[in-house]
Amino acid sequence: MGKRVAILTSGGDAPGMNAALRACVRFGIYNGFEMYGVERGYQGLVDNRLEPLTSRSVSDIIQRGGTFLKTARCDEFRTEEGRKKAYNNLMALDIKTLIVIGGDGTFRGGQALAETYENLNVIGIPGTIDNDLAYTDFTLGFDTAVNTVLWAINSLRDTMGSHDRCALLEVMGRHCGDIALYAGLCGGAEHILVPEVEYDLDAIAESLHQARSRGKTSNMIIFAEGAGNKDEICAYLKEKAGVHITTTTLGHIQRGGSPTMQDRILASKFAERAIELIKLGASDRVIGIRDNRIIDENISEALEMPRKFDKKLYKLAMIMSL
Ligand code: F6P
Repeated sequence: MGKRVAILTSGGDAPGMNAALRACVRFGIYNGFEMYGVERGYQGLVDNRLEPLTSRSVSDIIQRGGTFLKTARCDEFRTEEGRKKAYNNLMALDIKTLIVIGGDGTFRGGQALAETYENLNVIGIPGTIDNDLAYTDFTLGFDTAVNTVLWAINSLRDTMGSHDRCALLEVMGRHCGDIALYAGLCGGAEHILVPEVEYDLDAIAESLHQARSRGKTSNMIIFAEGAGNKDEICAYLKEKAGVHITTTTLGHIQRGGSPTMQDRILASKFAERAIELIKLGASDRVIGIRDNRIIDENISEALEMPRKFDKKLYKLAMIMSL
């Protein structure tokens, strides 16, 4: 077991990454490890931007969104040569364990490194607002992002109700509709459009029309960015249903903000498991939560699992909107 552990955040930032960094550093130091921070994800590893971290390095960040180590997407690391540079930089400091916090791309980068260099141990903590990793029920940042969307839905409901309008709110999720699903259910949306479920625009138009005759004076449609062309859909529905539709795109607002209690707890528990695994000498694992229990999986097996969209929850949301 090496005594030195490096840590980085990579890919899109997510609220709770800072809380996880803080927890890894402090729990790591508590367990006798020397902790190193890598600036700007894999790019920093290639460029040799590693610094020792102390408990004080992670003061006053638990409540902050983003990542104090910064993050980046790194093309050089996708090449064997780039990964060799990264590996050499770690070996020069006698660092044989790397904790990576991020999503699918981050884990694949870690997997590539671990596969090539057997004496390097990579441990992954899931941090992405998209919640698109199959092996874990939740990722860091998802809960905060959904709460940010809920805040927007609440505000939109006020003004939509006052004007008898329909709102179409676009949320993040290129391949995964979880933000739309959870925010739609909790925000009382009538329609939730996600990449995983086929939708029928004529049926939606008809239901918007009928909702008016059932006494509904305003409506809410939540649209995941990967579910199609928002402007075309909006134009079609306006024409077919004859209702006034306003569109709002939340964009990167969803990626920022102070992490919720749920994300801070997850960050602390994920970090605790990560350090425990390193202590035990377990290698190439990713941490997650399933059925409310912290779990860990082999990194390659976790990445191979097919993602399942929660169709039952989707159906419940649709029934609720009657
Ligand atoms: O982190 C994932 C994600 O938030 C997606 O939902 C979104 O499409 C994408 O990142 C946007 O990333 P960027 O514009 O920062 O590259």
